[in-house]
Amino acid sequence: MSSTYESLRERLQEAFDAVAPGADPALRLSDRSDYQANGVMALAKRLGRAPRQVAQEIVGGGHLADVATVEIAGPGFLNLTLLPEFLNHQLGAISLDARLGFVEVNHPLRVILDYSSPNVAKEMHVGHLRSTVIGDALARMYRFAGHTVIARNHVGDWGTPFGMLIEHLLDLGEELAIATFSMGDLNTFYKEARVKFDADDAFKDRSRSRVVALQSGDPETLRLWRVLVDESISYFGEVYAKIDVTLVPGDVVGESHYNELLEGVIDDLASAGLLVESEGAQCVFPPGFQNREGEPLPLIVRKRDEGFGYAATDLAALRERVSVLHGDELLYVVGAPQAQHLEMVFAVARLAGWLPDEVRCEQVIFGNVLGPDHKMLKSRSGETVKLVDLLDEAIERAYVILEERGSDLDGDARLHLATQIALAAIKYADLSSERQHDYVFDLERMVAFEGDTGPYLQYAHARVSSIFRRLGEPWQPRDVHFELAESASRELALGLLGLPPALSSSLSSLQPHRLCTYLFDLAQRFTSFYDACPVLSAEGALRDERLALCDLTARTLRLGLGLLGIDAPDQM
Ligand code: ARG
Repeated sequence: MSSTYESLRERLQEAFDAVAPGADPALRLSDRSDYQANGVMALAKRLGRAPRQVAQEIVGGGHLADVATVEIAGPGFLNLTLLPEFLNHQLGAISLDARLGFVEVNHPLRVILDYSSPNVAKEMHVGHLRSTVIGDALARMYRFAGHTVIARNHVGDWGTPFGMLIEHLLDLGEELAIATFSMGDLNTFYKEARVKFDADDAFKDRSRSRVVALQSGDPETLRLWRVLVDESISYFGEVYAKIDVTLVPGDVVGESHYNELLEGVIDDLASAGLLVESEGAQCVFPPGFQNREGEPLPLIVRKRDEGFGYAATDLAALRERVSVLHGDELLYVVGAPQAQHLEMVFAVARLAGWLPDEVRCEQVIFGNVLGPDHKMLKSRSGETVKLVDLLDEAIERAYVILEERGSDLDGDARLHLATQIALAAIKYADLSSERQHDYVFDLERMVAFEGDTGPYLQYAHARVSSIFRRLGEPWQPRDVHFELAESASRELALGLLGLPPALSSSLSSLQPHRLCTYLFDLAQRFTSFYDACPVLSAEGALRDERLALCDLTARTLRLGLGLLGIDAPDQM
């Protein structure tokens, strides 16, 4: 089946093409009617004719006659009101479709999704939370659409700090160091190493030789390095399990993976004539990048000390993603501060011929998480906030709210539900605003059951579910004739038909917030419907229609929340 939106869009195209081919009419949900079509004005301009006259001709062709009544408004908008039979047919079709009208793509793409990407021996912070949550939602949506997603958790597991980290590990003793890591106390470990490095020259010397040993592949040094990496990755795995994301250990392909490819990156840049020596470092100067003084900006691929950097690794990774993984899309869910770095990497890759034009390569950029003071979110002691601490606080808060609401769940069941609510609160708050924007981490607002929040959507779903519990008999989607006599049921029905375009638009813009907006609107439509149209006390065909609308509402909320990585419990 094609979705209601697509059917309408096709009809509209036919109607336009009948007047003059090549128009590109746009369709959107509207308050005035069910849908509004734009594009008449552009066509009229092209034809040098009066818009309303062109509109008359489009409507007069009769291409829309069996799906909608059309009214010409203003300077040539087409206001479409769907015909009852068409609506009935579309609802009937999605009722029997587990995908609720969203058709899998014909041409699946290979999408390489770089996300989460925390650093070994360092705490995951709210920036990594954003990358993980946004990346996870995109991965779920892409996969649902039928694409192949290859997740790349580009963990920072290489570089000069490992000298001091390994030396500190030896000072502490392996056992104690491992214990610190498994307690999730990564920052303390890192900071202790840093303090010694800054204060103690002997330690500094040891650390430096250790870096050399690491880079030259000394087996014992590599073993110690692995301990740090493995312990960190298993800790990250615990965090992922806790926040319920789809990342698996196999998605970790850290910076170290690219070590053997770095030499080749340099060689190929050199033979392409792109490499320039600047202050002892090997650089590429991609055109169009300048510093504040207007001087050309280098992408440093090899530092003065002969070490490779972050940029060289990203170049090697990009090459692998194109030529080995055959990615059609390379997406990087990375915060705004790294925008220039990634743009330069992409530009250099294009210059070097590693990034063909047909490969989409984009940073899925996101803004900062701010504290109540609208400054970067910090803990009370002024440090970066640990992700797990935020989670625990949200779970505690949700637990208390359940208590206040007189939840009859106890013990583990209540804790489980509180966790589901807390995750919904945090993930939805992160996903529901345009990702480029900063947002304020306001736990109280995020966990509220009212307003544009994750728990509100979960609660709407639980309310629908409770209708079916009270029904007392199993309910299967069945052949229902949708009359939709009340405006509230008609509005709900129109909302239910809106999932496919909302999801498509979220995917094409890489903006999960569009799906959030859709779901919030649907939950509100359901609330109005539920106030106006009693379900269980209705009778006969009317009751069946209302139950069918409720069933579709529950399924749409469940599917939509699921694509955002949010659970939809049956009871709250
Ligand atoms: N590890 C980096 C950080 O914590 C993020 C890596 C992003 N991905 C990339 N391919 N550079 O800032």
